Amino acid sequence: MSAPYLEIHDLRKRFGEDEVLKGISVSLERGECLVLLGPSGCGKTTLLNIVSGGLEADAGAVRCTGEALDVPAEGRFVPMRRRGFAMVFQEFSLWPHMSVAENVAFGLRLRGLGRHEREDRTMQALARVRMETFANRWPGELSGGQQQRVAIARALVVRPRLLLLDEPLSALDARLRETLKDEIATLLREERITAVYVTHDQAEAFAVGDRIALMNGGRVEQCGPPEELYRHPATRFAASFIGSSNIVPVRTDGGRARWPGGHDTPLPSGATAGAVAHLLLRREAVRVEPGNGGPPQAGNGCVVLPGICRRERFLGDRYEILAEVGEAFTLRGFGAGRIAAGAPVHVRFSMEDVRCLAE
Ligand SMILES: Nc1ncnc2c1ncn2[C@@H]1O[C@H](COP(=O)(O)OP(=O)(O)OP(=O)(O)O)[C@@H](O)[C@H]1O
Ligand SMILES: [Mg+2]
Repeated sequence: MSAPYLEIHDLRKRFGEDEVLKGISVSLERGECLVLLGPSGCGKTTLLNIVSGGLEADAGAVRCTGEALDVPAEGRFVPMRRRGFAMVFQEFSLWPHMSVAENVAFGLRLRGLGRHEREDRTMQALARVRMETFANRWPGELSGGQQQRVAIARALVVRPRLLLLDEPLSALDARLRETLKDEIATLLREERITAVYVTHDQAEAFAVGDRIALMNGGRVEQCGPPEELYRHPATRFAASFIGSSNIVPVRTDGGRARWPGGHDTPLPSGATAGAVAHLLLRREAVRVEPGNGGPPQAGNGCVVLPGICRRERFLGDRYEILAEVGEAFTLRGFGAGRIAAGAPVHVRFSMEDVRCLAE
């Protein structure tokens, strides 16, 4: 097997007493976008800064196309300006005293390109982010979203070996984030740009990432395509960070799961016997129906538990309902119609949708 395009191996970093990266290993193929997703403080920016060359690792290795960029054990460290990478930051970082075109052309000027080629490539890059008509404006005359588009053009114009983006949309309002994340996703795919994209936003991660490395406390908990993280979360953290989940602790004995409140179902596959297990049930796998029509009817591999509606929320196409099951635990699910708080409900799900989570 050939070496990956970018390889991060057992990377460690301390700030004083604090071990912020605790042995990170991930890799990236050419043309792929890897998202670093995780809560604030989990080490995403630190990892990105080590990849960019803005920060040195304590141990481990960063290699790109086989070239050692940062390998402390071998005394190898290639400075940022010699890595051929480009970065896009959260804060609008255009140079205020240069026009849009001058901002984009600056990297080409540094590389000694002639005027004609500079102008051609600058206009092409601006066109790719639909900013060609703004070439002669000053950054201060642009909206936040336009400034980030120019920042992306400025990063791409130099045809970097690797594009690094650190929360590029988080300073923008929700609507703009929505459109720009789709534009970035399309641009990365169409141009086959190799990128590492940092975000704490799941929707952004799913839109742009070919694969997602889910980070928690300086480690990668799980790395895979979005579908895999969603459908097969490896840990409780992964299950709770991604998607809207119910996580129910059950006692396991005799091959059965004893739910709080005394309900009893077969154990889903993957459960280890003899202990407490945490079962994952996605919100969309739980149906909540009015429970006035007598005792719940199970069947077809379905479990139906009696409960009380605690809260409902209108989502436009359906209702999210929080149901308390036998005064023992609550489950969030979807209902087709409105159910008043306090009304009896039936909570229905299929055991096929229940997953057992690793600790
Ligand atoms: N230069 C530094 N000196 C000391 N501690 C630092 C330094 N930079 C980061 N840290 C600490 O390292 C940890 C990880 O920080 P980092 O910025 O990588 O997190 P992050 O995942 O990017 O978070 P956010 O989503 O808030 O940007 C934090 O606890 C932070 O306080
Ligand atoms: Mg950060």
